[in-house]
Amino acid sequence: MTHITARIPLIDWSKGFDRHWNNNNPASSHVFNALSFVFPQGERFFIKAATEVSRQEGLVLSPELAVDIKAFVMQEAMHTKHHQHYNENLERLGYKNVAYNYIEWLEKESDKHLRPIQKLAFVCAYEHFTAVLGNYVLKHPEVFKASPQTMKLIWGWHAAEETEHKAVCFDLYQAAGGKWLWRIFSFAIVGLEFSMIFTRIYLNMLWRDGCLNLTRLPKTLFQATRFFWGIGGVGWHVVIHGIRYLSPWFHPWNMDNRQVLDQWLVENHDKLSKLS
Ligand SMILES: [Fe+2]
Ligand SMILES: [Fe+2]
Repeated sequence: MTHITARIPLIDWSKGFDRHWNNNNPASSHVFNALSFVFPQGERFFIKAATEVSRQEGLVLSPELAVDIKAFVMQEAMHTKHHQHYNENLERLGYKNVAYNYIEWLEKESDKHLRPIQKLAFVCAYEHFTAVLGNYVLKHPEVFKASPQTMKLIWGWHAAEETEHKAVCFDLYQAAGGKWLWRIFSFAIVGLEFSMIFTRIYLNMLWRDGCLNLTRLPKTLFQATRFFWGIGGVGWHVVIHGIRYLSPWFHPWNMDNRQVLDQWLVENHDKLSKLS
């Protein structure tokens, strides 16, 4: 549907960033910070699952899909690398990925009990959520209005590439004979599992900053509610676009958002170098 290119964002992570880099707002800054904490483990799992299925004996892939899978792997590997740098900065600021061991355990258990195609169904669900969030980021640049260039770039770049490769795992799942029912089941599990992981990390970050103390709690609740459920809030976007996935006729490119993707890439081409 669209040519997939792996890029390197020109970011100097040694400069670090403020803990409340998004508009001096802890509730919105930590939404992104908590997401960053889960990306490296998640994306390594995505790469492994997609590679495993694509190498299955007897599976014949179209040359286009085979090329797309390679580009997907390169993009996700580069995301992992940059979010590791991001997360080192978070750790320097005193934050911790409190779900790290739980995510490791989940991965080991899924390796033990699930077939490669079943793991790929989980990846497809995660990829749908990252594509939906990516679409939100591309469509709402005002969210990063009062943010440093580093953050505008990493989140814009990641959003653009998640959009670009949003159909790769889905197409692989279909090509490998993946069933709708398992796809839907995986989506429900991923929705629940990810909400729990995200909430745990997010609340821990707010707690470390004292944002959950009684005196600061009303302000934190107001900021978080407005970010998730205000006009144009990310929560509405995730719910509305998330449930499209349930349709048996769903395909990631049924929602064609190439226009916002291309616009972001044109506006930021001088801040990226090509990997492939
Ligand atoms: Fe990614
Ligand atoms: Fe992805």
